[in-house]
Amino acid sequence: MDRIRIAGPCTLSGRVRVSGAKNAVLPEMAAMLMIDGPTRLTNVPDVHDVTTMIKVLGHLGMQDLELRDGVLTAAGCEPSEPEAPYDLVRKMRASILVLGPLLARLGRAKVSLPGGCAIGARPIDLHITALRQMGARIDIEHGYVVASGTRLRGAQIRFDKQTVTGTENIMMTASLADGRTVLRNCAQEPEVADLAAFLNACGARIEGAGGATVTIDGVDRLRGATHAVIPDRIEAGTFLMAAAATGGGITVEACRPDHLGAVIDTLRRCGVQLQEQGDAITVRPDGPLRAVDAKTLPYPEFPTDLQAQYMALMTRARGDARITETVFENRFMHVGELRRMGARIEVEGQTATVTGPAPLSGAPVMASDLRASACLIVAGLQAEGETMISRAYHIDRGYEHVVTKFRTLGARIERVRG
Ligand code: EPZ
Repeated sequence: MDRIRIAGPCTLSGRVRVSGAKNAVLPEMAAMLMIDGPTRLTNVPDVHDVTTMIKVLGHLGMQDLELRDGVLTAAGCEPSEPEAPYDLVRKMRASILVLGPLLARLGRAKVSLPGGCAIGARPIDLHITALRQMGARIDIEHGYVVASGTRLRGAQIRFDKQTVTGTENIMMTASLADGRTVLRNCAQEPEVADLAAFLNACGARIEGAGGATVTIDGVDRLRGATHAVIPDRIEAGTFLMAAAATGGGITVEACRPDHLGAVIDTLRRCGVQLQEQGDAITVRPDGPLRAVDAKTLPYPEFPTDLQAQYMALMTRARGDARITETVFENRFMHVGELRRMGARIEVEGQTATVTGPAPLSGAPVMASDLRASACLIVAGLQAEGETMISRAYHIDRGYEHVVTKFRTLGARIERVRG
């Protein structure tokens, strides 16, 4: 298994380009199951989760998918197989996003239950309840969601809790259902709005995506289209925090500053100088960092996917920063690894209190999930000496060419083949 070695400390400088958003392209790829005709997605990141989704779609009978130089093309054949097997779904929970499109296109679907993951139980009950409200019959058998229902009907649906992939799954299903669906208490993430923009380019009739209420009028078919995937705001946020953590000055390019409002506000309150220019954000060091509390919440508030990276940054700040995780019940796996590097962190319930500044020292550490591995890179860049991150495969799931990008910013970082 690959590892990542960092020789710290370093001061990042230069420019880095953000890739397309993993959490936008995955539902857009699942939506291809419903599209009749050639489709082209541009700005597609070459990350492992995209490769896994290509395998899932290939298994469902879509043989004509090709990713080349950030462009994903599909000729648009009808899926022939309604089953997404355990062996693929266990690798990537987002595979659950094929459930709605398969049901909408074929009238039946069999998808392995994703099961829990390092950051929480992550049930899909809200997806299932909503599909049943649209007239689907759903049974859980032998670890699989078995769904059927021809020509589902529009419904009035309120999610008990904001769910990103839940909103996306139902929005896709409703695009080919009979009549109007109104979804309330929806997830408002930019990735949800980008999926709707893609579907509307394919002939869907979706309004209000990105807001709390989304209205979908079902259509008979979706035709092919070309769509550019939005930039990855979590990748952009990771680079901003890495720069601030090393006292460096960088420019993050090809991103959407408007998708990072809460993050930019928080960093500015920490004393980080940030300048937004069009599709770029420039970070400039501005003296010692102040400790600032953060609370993760659904968009547009502070994203849970940047919580771990922010914690690594706060080890360098003056004072106590209380970081509260409200989205996932078990997303502090990185705390133990940061403590191994010398961080001072107390956890009580869903709140971690980081006391700083605590100079970090390099150490062998282990990544537990995608964002925890990004956190350990941010920590390793500011630590004294060598940090060796094992289970680096986690980072490859969601960050394109991460070692190369940090190297262009001046980091002494390399991949150690396992
Ligand atoms: C999406 O996961 C993202 N994944 C996650 O990114 C992200 O952390 C999360 O949204 C929150 O922003 C993708 O888009 C592929 P949720 P998702 O449904 O949709 C509970 C990363 O690092 N819930 O919004 O699975 C759930 O347990 C990943 O890129 C139910 O109880 O998250 C959680 O506590 C990690 N029942 C909360 O809601 C349900 O049916 C929010 O989860 C669904 C969710």
